[in-house]
Formats: sequence, C-alpha cells, structure tokens
Amino acid sequence: MSQFDLELKSLQKIYPGGTLAVEGFDLNVEKGEFISFVGPSGCGKTTTLRMIAGLESITSGDLLIRGRNFTSVPAEKRPTATIFQNYAIFPHMTVYQNLCFGLEVRGMPSNEIKKKVDDIIDTLELGDVTDAREAALSGGQKQRVALARGLVTEPDILLLDEPLGALDANLRKSIQEELKILQRDLGITFVFVTHAQSEALAMGDRVVVMNAGRVEQISDPFELYTRPKSGFVARFIGRNKIIAGQLENGSQKRAGVQTSVGLLAGVPGFDVSIAQNGTAAMLVTPSEYVDLREPGGPEAQADENRITGTVQRVNQIGHVVHVDVRVNDALSIKLETHREKIVGKGVAQGAEMDLCWKAERSTIVLDAV
Ligand SMILES: Nc1ncnc2c1ncn2[C@@H]1O[C@H](COP(=O)(O)OP(=O)(O)OP(=O)(O)O)[C@@H](O)[C@H]1O
Ligand SMILES: [Mg+2]
Repeated sequence: MSQFDLELKSLQKIYPGGTLAVEGFDLNVEKGEFISFVGPSGCGKTTTLRMIAGLESITSGDLLIRGRNFTSVPAEKRPTATIFQNYAIFPHMTVYQNLCFGLEVRGMPSNEIKKKVDDIIDTLELGDVTDAREAALSGGQKQRVALARGLVTEPDILLLDEPLGALDANLRKSIQEELKILQRDLGITFVFVTHAQSEALAMGDRVVVMNAGRVEQISDPFELYTRPKSGFVARFIGRNKIIAGQLENGSQKRAGVQTSVGLLAGVPGFDVSIAQNGTAAMLVTPSEYVDLREPGGPEAQADENRITGTVQRVNQIGHVVHVDVRVNDALSIKLETHREKIVGKGVAQGAEMDLCWKAERSTIVLDAV
C-alpha cells in the first residue's frame, strides 16, 4: 500500500468553455497530514478540491487515494467527504437526521448508524442541538454540524472549502484551534482551502500556494514564511520587505543583490550557478527580522545588512507600531514593530535611523518586482 493518502499527478482541468483552471498540479499527501491550499480568488483552489472529491471531472493527470487510482471513479464511490463554505445542511431535517443521512444513503443498518451518529455528536459536543433545524443554529453550531456530517462517514480524506469563511473573526479563531486539535486526534487527512494566508499558515502542516492555476510553492509554514521561492509567494505570504535589484555573486561565498542602496547580502548557500550576475533579483526579508537602531553604532559586520533612512511616519495602534522609513527616492520601507522594541531609541518623525538585519534572514528570489 502506498505511504500516501493522496497523490495528485500532473492534474489538469480545462472547463468546457476553455478556461484552464488547474495546470500540472503535483502533490503527495501523507496519512494524517493537514494540507492548506491558499491563493487569490480564481487561482483554482475549489476546482482542485472538487476534482479530488469527484464533483468535477479531471481533464488529464491522475488522482490516487491510498495508492488506488480514482481518476474516473464517481464521487459517491470515493473515500472522501466535502465541507463547503455554506455548510449545505438540509434545512427541513433536524441535526440528527442530517447526520444520519449520508449513512442511510450508503445502506448502513440502523443500529450501526445510531452508534456512529451518537459518537460524532459526542466528539463535536452537539448533544444540545440534535433536534434543532438549521434555522435555529448559530454560525459556530452550523459549522460543527457540517463537520460532523463529513466525519460521520469516516472518510480517508476530509476536503474543506473555506469552511470558516462565514464566521466572525473571534469564532473563526477558536474554531481554527478546535479543528486542528480534532484533526490531530482523529488522524484523518485534511485538505483545507482558504484565501486567508494567515489561516493557511496557522492550520497547515504544509501549505500549497497557488497562483493562476499553478502551484507556486509547497512548504511547511515556517519555510514558506522565511524562504519564499518566487516573487509571488514573497508578496502573498507574510509581511516581507522586498528590495529589488540585480543578482551579484559577491567576492565571498555569499551571493547578494545590488540595489539602489548598494550591495545587500542574502543567506549563504544560494546556488550561484543557476543565474548570471545582473539577473533581476529581489532580496526578501520578513519584517520582524529588521531592527531599528540609532545611527553611529558599531561597524556593520560582514554577515549583516545595514541601510540608513529617515523616519517619515510613526503610527501606534495598541502595542503595535508602524514605522515608515524613507531610504531614498526609490525605496521606502514600512516596518511593523512592538512599542517595547523601540521605546527610548529616538524613533520619531524626521529622525535618521539605521535598519539592520542578519544577512541569513534574507532570501534571494530570482524574479523582477
Ligand atoms: N464551472 C465552471 N465553468 C467554467 N469556469 C469555471 C467554473 N468554475 C470555475 N471556473 C473558472 O476556473 C478558475 C478557477 O476557479 P476556482 O473556483 O477553482 O477558483 P478559487 O481559487 O476557488 O477561487 P475563490 O477563492 O474565489 O473561491 C476561474 O478562472 C474560474 O472562473
Ligand atoms: Mg473557491
């Protein structure tokens, strides 16, 4: 048996009208993994999920679940369950009836149905609402019923399409945590679609970033956040500072980017053989690695980047402070920092400040801004 719960091999979808919605999607998902798909509207997240569920035909490529080819198998014969943003709870049935429905359709004996439904009601703490209908449920309860209805069929893979999109921010956060704990406890593979990058990073063991029907990067959240592989990912994920320039394979082992403020160094180990000096490149640094310092400190070390600018604006929102620093006509850098980190350091409008960070925090991305 395959070690993977789900394998997508060059999956492609062209809709009848000719739209190329998904192109060359390759992915292996391990058993019990939580995978997030994230990307802007129209990038093909839902289409991919629907192809996995069997709700949309696959134009070309292969789909394997636990080693078996399901490319042409109809939805009802796939070991998957899908939860949609609008929950799709049957309004004329009670919660209990909603939960029984999927098992009844499969022809399961009623004593077995009762046991499974009672179990899932227990797991998801739905005991108080078993007789309620959809209209009487809160957003969080609806979300839980939808989840229970998906899980009660004991799928190998649970597919979730923006399942938290309809919830307010606070409820969303607490259900994110619950969902993550539940997934770990059950050990079921989850494929979770969202267009909120923070949600994708918070939930996924790995995150798939999609753009215009293609996969841009598949990485664990930390890697994705700190080591983007393309300009698109650098802009889409996190609060990265992006400084444009040209690749320069410096005199030391370290490659850098020649920018409007001189040569800035990137993480060592960048494979200098893959591009010529002068290729359009960007130096990408997560904002929280950049420190603000008063000028006149000790000389910058070789493994450190330092640039000087003038503070244009300081804006405090609660304990978070936004600082805009103008470096030159072409480059302005916005930083988000905490009040405690800059207090007493002379950060004020009009002040000259150094921006310093370790070169190893910066990633060189071969892409024009
Ligand atoms: N049934 C359909 N027929 C034709 N084109 C479609 C159909 N469904 C989606 N598309 C197109 O396929 C592309 C991908 O759409 P998809 O719904 O997969 O995107 P998405 O990433 O889920 O977006 P969103 O974040 O808005 O939900 C888009 O260009 C969309 O217009
Ligand atoms: Mg969608």
